[in-house]
Amino acid sequence: MFPLVVSLIAIAIISLTHWLFRWWNPKCNGTLPPGSMGWPLIGETLQFFAPNTTFDISPFVKQRMKRFGPVFKTSLVGRPIIVSADPELSHIIFQQEGQTFQSWYPDTFTEIFGKENVGSLHGFMYKYLKNMVLSLFGPESLKKMLPEVEDTVLRQLNQWSELDTVEIKDATASMIFNLTAKKLISHDAENSPENLRESFVAFIKGLISFPLNIPGTAYHKCLQGRNKAMKMLKKMLQERRMMPRKQNTDFFDYVLIELAKEGTPLTEGIALDLMFVLLFASFETTSLALTVALKYLSDYPLVLQTLTEEHEAILKRRENPDSHLKWSEYKSMTFTFQFINETVRMANIVPGIFRKALRDVSYKGYTIPAGWGVMVCPPAVHLNPARYENPLDFNPWRWEGGEINGASKHFMAFGGGMRFCVGTDFTKVQMAVFLHCLVTKYRWNPVKGGNIVRTPGLQFPDGFHIQLAKKQNLSNDSPS
Ligand code: HEM
Ligand SMILES: *[C@@H]1O[C@H](CO)[C@@H](O)[C@H](O)[C@H]1NC(C)=O
Ligand SMILES: *[C@@H]1O[C@H](CO)[C@@H](O)[C@H](O)[C@H]1NC(C)=O
Ligand SMILES: *[C@@H]1O[C@H](CO)[C@@H](O)[C@H](O)[C@H]1NC(C)=O
Ligand SMILES: *[C@@H]1O[C@H](CO)[C@@H](O)[C@H](O)[C@H]1NC(C)=O
Repeated sequence: MFPLVVSLIAIAIISLTHWLFRWWNPKCNGTLPPGSMGWPLIGETLQFFAPNTTFDISPFVKQRMKRFGPVFKTSLVGRPIIVSADPELSHIIFQQEGQTFQSWYPDTFTEIFGKENVGSLHGFMYKYLKNMVLSLFGPESLKKMLPEVEDTVLRQLNQWSELDTVEIKDATASMIFNLTAKKLISHDAENSPENLRESFVAFIKGLISFPLNIPGTAYHKCLQGRNKAMKMLKKMLQERRMMPRKQNTDFFDYVLIELAKEGTPLTEGIALDLMFVLLFASFETTSLALTVALKYLSDYPLVLQTLTEEHEAILKRRENPDSHLKWSEYKSMTFTFQFINETVRMANIVPGIFRKALRDVSYKGYTIPAGWGVMVCPPAVHLNPARYENPLDFNPWRWEGGEINGASKHFMAFGGGMRFCVGTDFTKVQMAVFLHCLVTKYRWNPVKGGNIVRTPGLQFPDGFHIQLAKKQNLSNDSPS
């Protein structure tokens, strides 16, 4: 008996040692990039999620870049991962989508966004969905949307100015959600008994969080929200199916027509997952960008002045100052677009873009093994002092003259390559129209909040409260 126990223990110890050795020294046909695999199983997950309040590159990435260089290995949420803070490698990763690299997101994402969400689809199905989305958020569609966006924004601003203070993160999120929901599913938030947006609240927190599904965790709340939202979307789709509408105008109509086609690759599950992703992607990201924009406008008077002058000039050039924004006017907002680029550069709303290596990939003497995850790190690229002088200075003028233009290797707030964000133009329209209405008709004072936390997803833990007031004399007013 005794020798048996001893040998069992010995075998256990040997296996454990072997396993630990493998954990710290993963197999690789070549040389792995430097870096640490952290603790067994949890790896460096805790360090990765540690909150910080900086606009700079997260301490997790910054410290490792200093120690190991811009390409390093780690282990996050139970997966071996190569982090790329290197513009060159990141560019290659985007360009090789579907060949040596493929879109891949941690299991938390797939649980929350659904197993059939666009990010998890590849090849034919992916292209099919992408075209579907582009038909909705492409330039033609946006042109038609312009007056609708302007009316909504003006109505909102007017409502907010009647309040003592308004918390701008939540208020813009609500506005954009209602706008997108109307566009996608004709969901009239103001006259609907059910509150669809409620299920989306506190989402970013749970999205990039520790995947612990027990009551009380952000992840758990997030999953519950998803279930609730999916139930509502499903019910709405069914109602629409029973009562088709004469004019086919929204995304629901489009989906039902596609579903009825013979041999369609679309399924109801895919359509619902897509709807969910679009609703989420549109309001949470854009409202964060707008809140960051307002924060910088409050802190940089010269930027606010320049922006205001650009938009007042648009009004002055018009015959009727009260007419709607025209597409040509939108296109003429040069400084506004510089301002938006600078805002999303600094905001770094997406702290990591995930891929998987399909084959062994060599880069500068290192090997990224097949099957490993890869995380492209946009903040490292956007805050690279070699490319952006004084990277932590908010300076929209750095975008002047096109020196950085087209240099997508150094600007990846909206991703890159084939999976470039389909909502980019939609976001820009919403931001530009909002800024136009805001700076021409209103002035504001920050009241409280405005502090950021990154976990590593961007959040405003106590919001950003402002006091909004109508400008008295529109034509002669200069911002001060
Ligand atoms: C400031 C606002 C936004 C930012 C910073 C942003 C950022 C990004 C990034 C970095 C990606 C690439 C993900 C990857 O490569 O895996 C992406 C993809 C995507 N975005 Fe956005 N986005 C924004 C607004 C929007 C809006 C308004 C929509 C909705 C219409 C949207 C819908 C999507 C979709 C559906 C994808 C997936 C595309 C794919 O997998 O090919 N985004 N976004
Ligand atoms: C490792 O590389 C050698 C030679 O390049 C190749 O023959 C072998 O199949 C590779 N092994 C794996 C697991 O990729
Ligand atoms: C941010 O990270 C730095 C470096 O790790 C740390 O010293 C600091 O306490 C962190 N700040 C916050 C607010 O967590
Ligand atoms: C959006 O709709 C909700 C109802 O679901 C409403 O309470 C809220 O005021 C609307 N938000 C805006 C900004 O119009
Ligand atoms: C903003 O960045 C994009 C991507 O690099 C670029 O194509 C565009 O020209 C920039 N806009 C301005 C106004 O510089």
